[in-house]
Amino acid sequence: MKLFDLSGEVAVVIGATGALGGAIAEGLAEAGAKVAIVGRNTDRGQARVKAVEARGGSAAFFSADALSRCSLIEVHEQVEARLGAPSILVNAAGGNDPKVTVTAEHPFEKIPLEAWQANFDLNLVGGVLLPCQEFGPAMCRRGRGSIINIASVSAHLPLSRVVSYSAAKAAVLNLSQFLAREWASQGVRVNTITPGFFPAEQNRKLLFKEDGSPSERTKAIWGHTPMNRFGEPQELTGAAVFLAAHKASSFVTGTDIRVDGGYLSQTI
Ligand SMILES: NC(=O)c1ccc[n+]([C@@H]2O[C@H](COP(=O)([O-])OP(=O)(O)OC[C@H]3O[C@@H](n4cnc5c(N)ncnc54)[C@H](OP(=O)(O)O)[C@@H]3O)[C@@H](O)[C@H]2O)c1
Repeated sequence: MKLFDLSGEVAVVIGATGALGGAIAEGLAEAGAKVAIVGRNTDRGQARVKAVEARGGSAAFFSADALSRCSLIEVHEQVEARLGAPSILVNAAGGNDPKVTVTAEHPFEKIPLEAWQANFDLNLVGGVLLPCQEFGPAMCRRGRGSIINIASVSAHLPLSRVVSYSAAKAAVLNLSQFLAREWASQGVRVNTITPGFFPAEQNRKLLFKEDGSPSERTKAIWGHTPMNRFGEPQELTGAAVFLAAHKASSFVTGTDIRVDGGYLSQTI
């Protein structure tokens, strides 16, 4: 088997209806995996399946709410029946909810608890915990698996304004390392990817003004990114294929790969 060959593998990508998960799903399919495109939005899911197939890959869409264990159980059964037992899980559902973004009108001390919890739940509970609870033990029983959780630069050093998102993403790193230690002896590796800044639906309001021009925050981000630009979603696929490929990353677990144009290396 070639170092980065994913032929014969079944990959579940939750959040593949979105920008980053979608690009990762296409990258895994191009490397040979059969990919389960998982999310709630059927139109975007089917469009992603077509995009995979147009590049010669194999994929199918499965509708699921990552915040519902019942929904994940159903999808797990459907994926096994249709594609086979998953050996790769990518957790890419998540994002910041504008309702909990700190602003002058909505300061930290006035964040409604319910909104905080909903955002925290999306990024930690649905984003990582429940999918790992559902898919991880089955991989352990088969003695083989690679789980890739999507963190954020905000997990390492909290960005302004997106406070509950940052706290949840910091917990994603911590939980991933916990699982890496727990499941290493059972052949399941757990790693994270830390993306820098990539325009997507969930961060559009923070990054662009209503007329589509870059916001002040975008200018600050570019100024702090040594490569002086946003990333393209496809630029995440190399890291994802590496972590997914059991031959290429067989001794890699509990680590984090930063794909951020140097953002976290910038000081002055
Ligand atoms: N874009 C960036 O700059 C950036 C940077 C760092 C980290 N990230 C992280 O990368 C991941 C992907 O985000 P993105 O930027 O690609 O945003 P996006 O395009 O808005 O995609 C977010 C995805 O999350 C899915 N999702 C949300 N709630 C869900 C639920 N309850 N059940 C199932 N799926 C759900 C959405 O799918 P449906 O709507 O179909 O359910 C969508 O596919 C997130 O974890 C985000 O925090 C992004």
